Amino acid sequence: MKEIKVELADRSYPVLVGSGCLGRIEKYFPESARRVAIVTQEQIGIEIPFSKDFKVFEIGKGETAKSIETVIKLCREWVDWGLTRSDIVIGLGGGMVTDVAAFAASIYHRGLNVINVPTTLLGMVDAAIGGKTGVNLPEGKNLIGTFWQPKAVICDIDTLRTLPEREWKCGYGEVAKYHFLGADDMRESGLIDTVVECIKVKTSIVAEDERETGNRAILNYGHTLAHALELENKFTLAHGEAVAVGIRYAAQVAFYLGRIGEDRVAYHEEILNHYGLQMKLGKRVDIDRIISLFSKDKKSMDGITFVLDGDLGVEPVLVQDVNILMKAMEVVQ
Ligand SMILES: NC(=O)c1ccc[n+]([C@@H]2O[C@H](COP(=O)([O-])OP(=O)(O)OC[C@H]3O[C@@H](n4cnc5c(N)ncnc54)[C@H](O)[C@@H]3O)[C@@H](O)[C@H]2O)c1
Repeated sequence: MKEIKVELADRSYPVLVGSGCLGRIEKYFPESARRVAIVTQEQIGIEIPFSKDFKVFEIGKGETAKSIETVIKLCREWVDWGLTRSDIVIGLGGGMVTDVAAFAASIYHRGLNVINVPTTLLGMVDAAIGGKTGVNLPEGKNLIGTFWQPKAVICDIDTLRTLPEREWKCGYGEVAKYHFLGADDMRESGLIDTVVECIKVKTSIVAEDERETGNRAILNYGHTLAHALELENKFTLAHGEAVAVGIRYAAQVAFYLGRIGEDRVAYHEEILNHYGLQMKLGKRVDIDRIISLFSKDKKSMDGITFVLDGDLGVEPVLVQDVNILMKAMEVVQ
């Protein structure tokens, strides 16, 4: 089992990665906790045995259930059950579950301890770590949320046994992203080492910029187009699939802006191909609509901010020439 620490002063916490590490979860419960609220989804079907009094709260599936209504329903069920401020919440599931559970925990009684137990590859390498919580609005993804660091993150590789093929691909969409954010080349690594390497990169970025006032934005590499595509496709395109297309698109935008050369674009393709990721949507999209969705993305301040590769590595860049953004869409359709 490997342990990586997220260094955030009094909000620091461990991330465990390994086989069977879920058995250690009680070690991270605060002494005050009498009750454990486990938030999960029916299809996940993973049981965690505790000595404490616990109850399972199931939420719906998919991005449409990642809503403020789900959060309110959860909080009301917690009140009904008598969950108090000294108790603990566990988010047991993919990124959707951990985002919702931790958001609800962060506002319930003005903040309850939460432990994230990601059960998807994407959750392990990204969503469960770093303290971003939130839900969608009809107007866009993750438009309401909080920063609320968990007490621990337990990445038990055994939970991935039942993960469908498509969800593996989604996880590898985020793994591919880390290749451009300073990770070692993971193409020859085993699963645990790959997860650990991605977590190391994420935790070091989060430790430097917890609240995304600067460099943390680079974790959104490939995400501006991804969020627009997810919304435009009414979430029939999964997050990780959209991120893979978004990474290829971001490479093209960087190329048109003269930030990277053809060889670097080819390297993007090589990495995405290695993980068997689709770089094209396979259909035409309404480009004007996609561009208008970019400007609704919460990362846009003045103009459209894109996270782009370049000589100094990946960094946020304000793109004002909308024509470049439109032209680059051609390579991913
Ligand atoms: N907070 C962050 O920093 C952050 C970062 C990246 C992504 N996210 C969010 O994460 C979400 C995507 O996460 P995801 O890809 O894990 O999707 P998800 O949580 O929707 O899970 C995908 C599907 O896999 C199922 N599933 C989960 N674990 C399983 C298992 N072990 N066996 C079988 N089925 C299982 C789920 O029930 C679901 O149907 C998005 O909402 C995205 O916005 C958040």
